[in-house]
Amino acid sequence: MQTNQRSDGDQWTITSSVGRTALLVALGRALETRRDDALIDDPFAESLVLAAGDADLTPDVVEERAQDDPEMTRSLEFLTDMMAARTLRIDDEIRAANAHNCRQLVLLASGLDARAARIPWAPGTTVFEVDQPAVIGFKDEVLDEVGASPSATRVSVACDLRDDWLTALRTAGFADDVPTFWLAEGLLPYLRPADQERLLATITSVAPTGSVLMLDTTSGPIDPADWDIDASGFGVTVEDLFLDTGEFDARAWLNDHGWSASSEPVVSVLGENGRGNGITSDERYSAMIGKVQIVTARRS
Ligand SMILES: C[S@@+](CC[C@H](N)C(=O)[O-])C[C@H]1O[C@@H](n2cnc3c(N)ncnc32)[C@H](O)[C@@H]1O
Repeated sequence: MQTNQRSDGDQWTITSSVGRTALLVALGRALETRRDDALIDDPFAESLVLAAGDADLTPDVVEERAQDDPEMTRSLEFLTDMMAARTLRIDDEIRAANAHNCRQLVLLASGLDARAARIPWAPGTTVFEVDQPAVIGFKDEVLDEVGASPSATRVSVACDLRDDWLTALRTAGFADDVPTFWLAEGLLPYLRPADQERLLATITSVAPTGSVLMLDTTSGPIDPADWDIDASGFGVTVEDLFLDTGEFDARAWLNDHGWSASSEPVVSVLGENGRGNGITSDERYSAMIGKVQIVTARRS
């Protein structure tokens, strides 16, 4: 099990510390893609997970372990439902924005998100992806190996989001003055509240009218003790992933700084799609997933 404690300026690989969470959520998308009633189709997720080379963390192995481990079954259901809802909802907004002339996207903390390769983009679209160097490098290599051919121009930007990532993004070709779709999916809990605020302020400084920002967050602060999922079964300890669990209300901040932001519980997305009954009937898991909100903000 990884027991890396967080620190300012810490770095990771795709299998260690926060990097491993990118692997876990890709595993969730791979498992969802395998379902007969899948809400999403991510044809790259399984290849990305397998390429990380962790024999304990493959779709086959975790599904087999779940067969005689009810706790693992619940954890996988939680992960799969969460990723299905999050991916579905965000994909819908991204596709709509791209169809309505938004041709520049920035995926902050892109991890193993394969949207750049799997979404059919309008001509002239550029997708920037920002993550730590080892994570970006791993994904670039695997997408190349599997012959992914994005219909957008995909630009990798290796940078820490606690550093001056905007300069790195501009150097990579980002244009300040065009409406942009910004995504910060699965990122905020791994940043200190001050870094979360700085991130949103930086985005706001280069988000003209027509820009959209989506992120996921929790209603109320995260107490790792409440996030009592069997993360150890996936080789991570929840307590070791957070630097500071103080509260920052992203939606309120956005509404105070020129955005019109609304939020939607992940469980609503599941309910609308006839899913999530198993997880919401379990008191412990229901309490966790019930807090997760998807925030959509529009710049007017
Ligand atoms: C849970 S994963 C989410 C990945 C991706 N957005 C997705 O939903 O599939 C968290 C990601 O945040 C990235 N991340 C967290 N803190 C970061 C930081 N300070 N700088 C750059 N990337 C960071 C990690 O490397 C990891 O890829």
